[in-house]
Amino acid sequence: MPATAAPRPESLHAQGVDVAFGGIKALTRVSLSLQRGQVMGLIGPNGAGKTTLVNVLTGFQAPSAGRVLLDDRPLTGMKARDHARAGIARSFQAARLFRDLTVRENLVVAGLGAGLTRREAQDGADDILDWIGCAPIAGLTCDGLSYGDERRISIARAMAMRPAFALLDEPASGMNETECARLMAVISALPERFDCGVLLIEHNMTVIMGVCQRIHVLDGGRSLAEDTPAEVQADPAVRRAYLGEKAEATDLVI
Ligand SMILES: Nc1ncnc2c1ncn2[C@@H]1O[C@H](COP(=O)(O)OP(=O)(O)OP(=O)(O)O)[C@@H](O)[C@H]1O
Ligand SMILES: [Mg+2]
Repeated sequence: MPATAAPRPESLHAQGVDVAFGGIKALTRVSLSLQRGQVMGLIGPNGAGKTTLVNVLTGFQAPSAGRVLLDDRPLTGMKARDHARAGIARSFQAARLFRDLTVRENLVVAGLGAGLTRREAQDGADDILDWIGCAPIAGLTCDGLSYGDERRISIARAMAMRPAFALLDEPASGMNETECARLMAVISALPERFDCGVLLIEHNMTVIMGVCQRIHVLDGGRSLAEDTPAEVQADPAVRRAYLGEKAEATDLVI
């Protein structure tokens, strides 16, 4: 069934999620709830488990314990394609675009993969490219894109699936200040423009503090805190864990 025909879920939940890779416990009893209309930040040091949690929420990684729910519907046993069709989309830490397809084709393929009709996928792709300011590059193949454009197209591709929830893995990485400012405006506008919730993984604290209503902090695969940006910035345990002993007091300040 096309993603558009199903009632739009209000919330996405991870409940008590464990993931182990051999001896490494990547996630231990992690629970998180994302509401439609909200931008939630997901932060933590390298290796904290952020991408692994996104992999679980999007069906790329089966948890060894715990579950993922859309509203009160468990998605247990469902694969990535089923999660996409249920309304959960992602962008990857590395862009992963089809390099010999055009920008527009990349978006159309994503829409089709999420269960849209060809017409819906094409119209949606044009609408998003126009909105995000990438219409002029719609016909270019992705192998020649600038780094900044590649990052923006990977967000556009997630939105082309018309998701109820978009999970963005480090969309600002490698961007300069001007590109970051532009990206912040785009991410802030996503919930209203696309009627979705956003989970934003970022190491850039200006971006995180600037666009998120709530922030969930992971450390060593465990949830350390979840609160408003102001409370997270003031939390001594977060500062210690996230920034380490050598952290400057200003590092978590906008
Ligand atoms: N496929 C895998 N096989 C083995 N170990 C893995 C695998 N994926 C992740 N890990 C390990 O799980 C832990 C969490 O990794 P993850 O990539 O989720 O962290 P992250 O918070 O996204 O880090 P970063 O900020 O560097 O992207 C790390 O110790 C990592 O080495
Ligand atoms: Mg990661």
